[in-house]
Amino acid sequence: MVMKMKTLCGIFAYLNYLVPSTRREILDILINGLKRLEYRGYDSAGVAFEGSNVDSKECFIKVIRQIGKVNMLEEAVRTAQDVNFEKPYNVHVGIAHTRWATHGEPSTRNSHPQRSDPDNEFVIVHNGIITNYKDIKSFLENKGMKFESETDTEVIVKLVKHLWETHKTSKITFRELVEVAIQQLEGAFALAMTSTHFPGEIVTTRRGSPLLIGVKSRAKLTTDHIPILYSKGFKDLTSTEGGSARACGYEDQPNESDHRGFVGSAHRNEDQTEFHPVGPNKEVEYFFASDASAIIEHTNQVIFMEDDDVAAVQNGSLSIHRISRSIDDSTVREVITLKMEIQEIMKGSFSSFMQKEIFEQPESVVNTMRGRVSFDAEHVVLGGIKDYMSEIRRCRRLLFIACGTSFHSAVATRQLLEELTELPVMVELASDFLDRSTPVFRDDVCFFISQSGETADTLLALRYCKQRGALIVGITNVVGSSICRESHCGVHINAGPEIGVASTKAYTSQFISLVMFGLMMCEDRISMQQRRKEIIQGLKKLPDQIKDVLKMDEQIHNLAQELYQQKSLLVMGRGYNYATCLEGALKIKELTYMHSEGILAGELKHGPLALVDRAMPVIMVVTRDKVFSKCMNALQQVKARHGRPILICNRTDMETQKHAYKFLDVPHNVDCLQGILTVIPMQLLSFHIAVLRGYDVDCPRNLAKSVTVE
Ligand code: M6R
Repeated sequence: MVMKMKTLCGIFAYLNYLVPSTRREILDILINGLKRLEYRGYDSAGVAFEGSNVDSKECFIKVIRQIGKVNMLEEAVRTAQDVNFEKPYNVHVGIAHTRWATHGEPSTRNSHPQRSDPDNEFVIVHNGIITNYKDIKSFLENKGMKFESETDTEVIVKLVKHLWETHKTSKITFRELVEVAIQQLEGAFALAMTSTHFPGEIVTTRRGSPLLIGVKSRAKLTTDHIPILYSKGFKDLTSTEGGSARACGYEDQPNESDHRGFVGSAHRNEDQTEFHPVGPNKEVEYFFASDASAIIEHTNQVIFMEDDDVAAVQNGSLSIHRISRSIDDSTVREVITLKMEIQEIMKGSFSSFMQKEIFEQPESVVNTMRGRVSFDAEHVVLGGIKDYMSEIRRCRRLLFIACGTSFHSAVATRQLLEELTELPVMVELASDFLDRSTPVFRDDVCFFISQSGETADTLLALRYCKQRGALIVGITNVVGSSICRESHCGVHINAGPEIGVASTKAYTSQFISLVMFGLMMCEDRISMQQRRKEIIQGLKKLPDQIKDVLKMDEQIHNLAQELYQQKSLLVMGRGYNYATCLEGALKIKELTYMHSEGILAGELKHGPLALVDRAMPVIMVVTRDKVFSKCMNALQQVKARHGRPILICNRTDMETQKHAYKFLDVPHNVDCLQGILTVIPMQLLSFHIAVLRGYDVDCPRNLAKSVTVE
């Protein structure tokens, strides 16, 4: 049976033009790029590399693929018998891929790069899913093409080869081939391709999956932006037989007489349409990646590709093309200087990215508030939404839409937002929101919360709400991500790169961003001033209090030693701490593979109490807030069933601690911020249990960081 392979994956590609490098150096760059992207998928990996010199047209492409993590691929590359690692190349293109499949077993033949034929005339790496791949596949099978994998990706590369066979006499360019091919694709993709017919060239494109380009050159670059070149229409796949590129109606604007759009054409002003270094030494390196973490160690100059952009490098010059132009489209792509530092994506002395990210929270929460909260003036400004505040204040409802941990940050702040805004607040899981075709109105304000800014369900929900005329606010961590670009306005949570698959510091920064939004909403309300003051002062205390909680690491490690062989773990609480239970249970599940449930303590007697006995580990979050006495009732119910509750409670609350089998005591903060301090012990506990069980905390099984498919 042919199965559809859904992939998330990381793409990395590298092109060096007139920068002499040995193949070993090139492969090191490719493998290292994959290591940076491994958190996006890690069930198999692969690399394709070519060799060509400027003077020679001889070109071959070698593909090496391997099941397992990137270090397995690295080993396979290192031990490859027929590779001359010391051979230098002036011009070279390599593409690489790390994969996460949700359907079907990972296998070498399903890994990327996928190829067009045994001679590797065209090779591709792809992130996303082609929903109409079966139709294209039967079209190509009817033309006599043989498929060797179960992937949807293979149809793309074979379609390009088919187009090449039918158009090669008309000198169609590589970029044109890819442009024709992608017009036939439905679904989501980011892809990079190379070809033996076009040595030293690369073509990349995206629709719905992220892709950015890094540019590195010692020479001055021609421009800080690239104008888009537009092509007019395309010919239907079914009528491409024997046709030519010109017959396909490809024309680039603004210079319509030069309708093949060649780089270096006599008719075109190169400086306006391409990107390349100025002066005699035109050496340049280009990096293409699913996210900036794979690029930042090489260059901070990047271009974020938009959906349906096709980027091509030929003779070291980069150009960006689109089929057609709609009225709202920007006509250029800016070169952006990234502020990210290389240390931010290194583990340093920590055993894993997750551990590092948990311990970064005293700083990451400061970065979220930096320049936004004035503790002296007790004033909050979120620059990205301030111009929209009057529209937001007039809205019918506030909707917060997200998945997983990001959804929990909305659960954590819903009560406060209801209180501070006095508006109806809906908190929605993106997938369910779409399944229900939830009514959305022009006067709704819809927030889309996403660490990666690429989560498919959240992005689709965003587009659904945008079509219905709602104001779209993005709350994201990744600058330049799809959600951030498609929102009307938004807030960058500024938590810094989060690489561990389990979200930790992004959660606390999302939480704080939403609190800051609530504070802005009520700045003019006299009746809210006292509450605003106590929350702002609470925010001020957070970094030190988080440091305090992190000091409990050893105590939590000891608790993990007691729990790590259990099969199940219940986490109970209510009110502001309910989100901690959901988020804590999610962390336990995804990292330790134990069963875990976050239970609203008010629901205990409606079913979950049946699970409680002496053997069932129960964590209860009981802090001194409005629902304290109700939580104490739940605690008594658990104890009455011989349960042995482990409490997360306040440091000074000896009275409550007396009822605990064990307790973790966290500093007291204002009720609505307490959830930041109660969730950190759960992050640490899940981390330690996973390590004790021998699991890879950064790459939990079956999961990927950025879920770019539905
Ligand atoms: O990037 P996003 O915040 O949109 O991701 C949403 C979820 O996939 C994500 O939070 C997931 O639940 C985490 N792995 C949980 O730790």
